[in-house]
Amino acid sequence: MNDVLPPLFGSRHERFKTVAVDAARKAGAILQQYARSGFQIEYKSVVNLVTDADHQAEQAIIDCILAAYPSHGIFAEERGRQLGTDSAFQWIIDPLDGTTNFAHGYPAYCVSIGLEYEGQGLLGVVYDPTRDELFTAVVGQGAYLNGTRLHVSDVQRLDQALLVTGFAYDIRDTPANNLDHFARFALRAQGLRRTGTAALDLCYVAAGRFDGFWELKLQPWDMAAGVVILREAGGRVSNFKGGPLSIYDQGLVASNGLIHEAMLAVLALG
Ligand code: IPD
Ligand code: CA
Ligand code: CA
Repeated sequence: MNDVLPPLFGSRHERFKTVAVDAARKAGAILQQYARSGFQIEYKSVVNLVTDADHQAEQAIIDCILAAYPSHGIFAEERGRQLGTDSAFQWIIDPLDGTTNFAHGYPAYCVSIGLEYEGQGLLGVVYDPTRDELFTAVVGQGAYLNGTRLHVSDVQRLDQALLVTGFAYDIRDTPANNLDHFARFALRAQGLRRTGTAALDLCYVAAGRFDGFWELKLQPWDMAAGVVILREAGGRVSNFKGGPLSIYDQGLVASNGLIHEAMLAVLALG
């Protein structure tokens, strides 16, 4: 994905959005059902969990999308990549972003569904079922929260900014664990948070709730939807050097645009 906008698809956009919203709401309902009734946890590693809620929500999303678009490609966190015959269109799915929060009953998690056309982000839908907050964006048509237009904040200085970040599951195994950047930003920003859900972090920058977000090792499904939503809310996304972001690279810097250079300068220190 780069900063060049993909071509518009006329009224097809509306149907893409309807399908994605329907899938996200169904998945959200499944997550809430498991949150009430209980779920099984499997360990991908000591700190990386997956639950049966992740799997069931993912299946429901894939079923919705393939019922509407049987030839489209699917790239889902738990299932991996499935190529369709019309796989210039690819749906990128995180059925539960914030699994650790979910497993602990901490209500900060979401469903994230992005759609790419020829590798460029076309649509983003992120649904937070605990707050019933639905973030949507279609490229060129603005970003919305429950139907209300979103815009990033107008904070201009790091020392007035509320920032957010996250840590990858290999935090114990590598020195590239973000703790150095975290320490530097903690001394520069007005405040610093770690919510545990990267897709919502991007949406919260879009909504002006956070002013900036960075993370070293995100996956395409963490970013695909949120990046479209943030851009459409007037925000800026880049790699750590300020160049065009690819969701297939890992490092992401996202902001209201105004503090972006200041964030890049802090990240360049280490
Ligand atoms: C994780 C969350 C977290 C981020 C991690 C992601 P998951 O996704 O987005 O905020 O720091 O890098 O892996 O595993 O909960 O879907
Ligand atoms: Ca995720
Ligand atoms: Ca996930």
